[in-house]
Order: sequence, then C-alpha cells, then structure tokens
Amino acid sequence: MRALWLASMVCVAQAPALFETHCARCHALDGKGGSVGPELSAIGAVRTPVSIRASLLDPNAEIYGDFVTGIVETRAGRVEGVVLNEDDLSVQLRLTSGEMRSFLKKDVLAVRHEDRSLMPSFRTKLNEGEIDGIVVYLSSLRGPAAAAVPRTREIARVTETLAWMTRPERDREEQPEAVLDALALRRTDVVADVGAGAGYFTWRIAKRVDRTIAVDIQRSMLQLNQEEAARRGARNIEFRESALEENSADVIFIANAYHEFAEPERMLSEFRRALRTGGRLVVLEYAKERPGVPVGEAHKMSLAEMRSEMEPAGFALERILDFLPIQNGLILRKR
Ligand code: HEC
Repeated sequence: MRALWLASMVCVAQAPALFETHCARCHALDGKGGSVGPELSAIGAVRTPVSIRASLLDPNAEIYGDFVTGIVETRAGRVEGVVLNEDDLSVQLRLTSGEMRSFLKKDVLAVRHEDRSLMPSFRTKLNEGEIDGIVVYLSSLRGPAAAAVPRTREIARVTETLAWMTRPERDREEQPEAVLDALALRRTDVVADVGAGAGYFTWRIAKRVDRTIAVDIQRSMLQLNQEEAARRGARNIEFRESALEENSADVIFIANAYHEFAEPERMLSEFRRALRTGGRLVVLEYAKERPGVPVGEAHKMSLAEMRSEMEPAGFALERILDFLPIQNGLILRKR
C-alpha cells in the first residue's frame, strides 16, 4: 500500500536524475547532452504541460520541428536516425546512439522517410509519478529570461499595412480557419475582435457565432472591415471605436495587434473586466524567436514576452497554438 502510494507521488525532486538517465542521451539542457532530439532548455516557454505529457506518452502523435526519421537499407542491414542532410547523392543520419553516419545513395539499397518519432514512448518505461515529475520539471524550464526590450508600441498607418494585411499568401501563413477551429466557439459566445483592422478575422468569426464585436481605434480600418463583412455576407457584427462594457464578452480575440497597445497592463485589466467568468483571451503575434518571419522587429513578440505579460495579469495559459507557421498563438482563461 505504502509503496504504491509512493510510486504514484509526483517525483519533481527526482526529475533531473530521471532526465539524465532516460532523456539526456538524445536531448541537451544548457548545451549538455545529446543532439538526436531538440535542445529542451526553454521547452516550458513554448509548450504547455499537457503537450509535454503528450510528447512523453505518445511521441508519434505530433512530430516537432524539422525532425525527419530516415531509414537507410544497406546490404548489412537497416540503419535509422534523424535526417541531418540529404541531397540527390547522399544522406546523413544522426543515430540514436548520437553517432553520425553518411551514406552515398548509390551504395545503399533504399532510403525511406517514416512519419514517426525516434523518441520512444515512456508510457510503460516510467510510472505516473515519474512522468508527472518530468512534466513539472520541463514546464519550469523557460530559458534565459526574456530581456526586457522596450518595445515601440506604435500604430502603423493604413497605407503601410493594408498591402500586408491583404497579401495573397496570408491564408496559408495564418491559417485563420484552423485558429478558429481551435477555439471551439459556441454559437452563443460573444466574441470581441480587438484591433480588428480591415477585418481579416472578423467576418470569419461572425460566421461562427451569433454576436461579434469588432473594435478598432482607427475609423478607416473599421470602414474597410465593414465593407469586407458586407462582401462576405456576414451580418451580426457591431463595429465600435470604444472600449467593451464590463462582463460583456466570452472571448476577446486579438490578432497581430496586442504589441501595439500603448499601455498593455491597463488593457489586460480592461479585458479581464470585459470578460465574463471563464472567458478566454486569445492572442496572436508574429513570432520574434523564429527566423525568417517577414515582419519588422517592432511588430513581433516572443512566446516568453507574451506569457510574461499576460499570465501575471490574471490569465491562466490554456493552450499554445503551436501549428502556426509564423505566429505565436495563446489561448488564456480569465482566472
Ligand atoms: C532516442 C532518442 C530520444 C530519447 C531517449 C528521448 N527523446 Fe524526446 N525527442 C526525440 C526526438 C528525435 C524528438 C523530435 C521529434 C518529436 O517531436 O518526436 C523528441 C522530442 C521531444 C519533445 C518535444 C520537443 C519540442 O520541441 O516540443 C519533448 C518534450 C521530449 N522529446 C522530451 C523527452 C523526455 C522528457 C525524454 C526522457 C524521458 C525524452 N524526450 C527521451 C528523441 C528522444
């Protein structure tokens, strides 16, 4: 009885040692450890505890980053590893032992890619308490504290941003329908699209719920938003330049606009007031920490920056929308 109870306790104190034994040959922390899988020093900033647990129990469910599993069949047998490099003539693998192997394609029988992770499932290798302990431990790793860089909170002018907002590749880059699917909106939810701009999300939201409020401090934007909504046949939208009333919204949705707020703390406390009990705040920003996002630095935020402002302001992280190619997305719930 006692042993059972002990076994199911959360083993946070043991977690670093468990990591050393089971994980460090493939994952590095602070530069120490293997490089078969990703470095995990800041994993707590970019994944929720729920998704870290899912990685441990079922690594194949979602493969993170550019980790492609490659199988090379040679006359001597098969070799599997993470594909490091591949071209027409050769392929390079990192084996789970950490060793790197190069093959010339003309010398091997076949090269295949498999849609599974090289990480083993720990469902049966570790007990519940050990898994919980590792999840708590990894969730606490946030990397070096996000440097408090003063952000220019400046609102760009319509002429500068309209071309960007209406760029043809936007649907592919921002996956608006997938984002809204992730919110699992109910028809009765009142959704406020704050910083709604020219209405990229507004009419899409309006198709899913009975009442949408589009808020923007730029009248010219609301005008465009209204025209777009009319073109899309979305009615039931209330357009306004002013703040939301207390207890008036179930979801406050802010796409690529939060970084422009001159007084983010005050805005967050207004949002808390405007949200009903259990209401959600959804924030999307272009990702500062990802290379090659074609947006000016002043218009990007890292996950660490977003979380360090929003969580202390009375919001609990519920989900990180980690499928977005160039944005960070957070769903937070009013505490
Ligand atoms: C044999 C090598 C190997 C071992 C052992 C291993 N992993 Fe992994 N891990 C990987 C690879 C490869 C990936 C990247 C592909 C994927 O997402 O599954 C990965 C991905 C992850 C991710 C997702 C990373 C991200 O960027 O979101 C987490 C979290 C993780 N591993 C934690 C662990 C923990 C904790 C252990 C030990 C209990 C462990 N791994 C053991 C190879 C390994």
